[in-house]
Amino acid sequence: MTAAYGPVTQWLAAMPKAELHLHIDGSLRAPRLLSLAQKHGVTLPYASVEDVEAAYEFDDLQSFLDLYYLGASVLRDEEDFYLLMQDYLEVCRRQHIIHCEIMVEPQTYLPQGVALGTVLQGFSRAITEAMHWGQSVKLILSFLRHLPESDCLAMLEAADPYREHFCAIGLASAERDFPPANFQTLYREAAARGYALTAHAGEEGPAAFIRDALDLLGVSRIDHGVRVVEDPALREELAVTRVPLTVCPLSNVRLCVYGNMREHRILELLQDGLCVTVNSDDPAYFGGDLLENFAALENDLAMDRSQALALVRNGFEAAFLSETERADCIAALDRYLAEHPL
Ligand code: ADE
Ligand code: ZN
Repeated sequence: MTAAYGPVTQWLAAMPKAELHLHIDGSLRAPRLLSLAQKHGVTLPYASVEDVEAAYEFDDLQSFLDLYYLGASVLRDEEDFYLLMQDYLEVCRRQHIIHCEIMVEPQTYLPQGVALGTVLQGFSRAITEAMHWGQSVKLILSFLRHLPESDCLAMLEAADPYREHFCAIGLASAERDFPPANFQTLYREAAARGYALTAHAGEEGPAAFIRDALDLLGVSRIDHGVRVVEDPALREELAVTRVPLTVCPLSNVRLCVYGNMREHRILELLQDGLCVTVNSDDPAYFGGDLLENFAALENDLAMDRSQALALVRNGFEAAFLSETERADCIAALDRYLAEHPL
C-alpha cells in the first residue's frame, strides 16, 4: 500500500497524527455492511461488495446521506458496534493516528430501536482494547440537523447518564436547509453541561453558516468550513483566532463541493495562517482513510513536507485534549521528527 504513496505521504505514514472528523457510521465498509445485513435479515439493494462500491457515486451531500443512513440501519446489537469501532481503531493503528475524535450519532439508530447504552457498550469494549496499544480516543455526540431541535434536546437529555463518554457535541447531516440558528437552545444546554462545541458548517452551506455557528452556537471548532473562502473578512478573522477547520479533502471532491482535487483550497488557507486539519469524514464512502487524504493533497496540490507537517501539527492544536494530553502527543511527534527530519 505505502509503495503507491508519494515521498511526502510515505514520510507521513508512520508519523504520529490526529484525526478529528470521522463519522463512525461512515467507516462501515462494504464487507462488514453485507455481513451485518445478512446477520439481521436486512434487505439492501446490493448483492456484492462490488454492487455496494458501484453505488457510491454522489451528486451532492443528500445523495450520500441517503446511502449512509441506509448503511447504518444494519447496526443493531452490541457486537455490531464493537466490530465497527474495532475496524476503525485498527485503521488508526495501521496509519499511526495516535489520537482520534469520533462522531457518534445515536439518533441514527432510533428507528431500529437501538438504545444508546447498547451502542456505547460496544464502542467502549473496542476502545478499551485499543487503549492497550496506547490509542487515544474521544467521542463526539453528534446531532442530526434534519431532525427538529426538540428531538436533539431529548437525545442530549438521554445522553446525560453517559456524559463521561463524550468530550463534545457536533451537528451533522443535511446542511443547506437546516441552519445553525435552529439549534441555539441545544448548544446553550450542551455548553451548560460542559461539552466542548463543534458543528459542520460551510460544507454545502454558505460562509454565513460558519459565522452563525461561531456567533449563535458558540462553537470553538468548525467541521469542514471550506466555504470560508467566500467571506474574506471571516477568512482573515480565522487566521487570527485560529478557530480550527476540520477539512476532509476526499469527501469534498466526492460530494462535489469541488469539481476535482486541484480546485481544493486547503493549502491556501494553511498559507494564510488558518488552523486547517486533514480528516477522512466517511472513509468507507469516499475512497480513503486519513493517509489517502494526505496522498491526494500531495498528488494533486503538490503538498510538500513542511505543509504536511503544519497540517499534522494543526491536528494536535485543534484536538479537544487537555494540555497534558496535547503535550504527550506533540512529544511523540517530535520524537518521530528527530528520527525522520523535515
Ligand atoms: N454525516 C456524515 N458525513 C457528513 C458530511 N460530510 N456532512 C454532513 N453530515 C455528514
Ligand atoms: Zn462530517
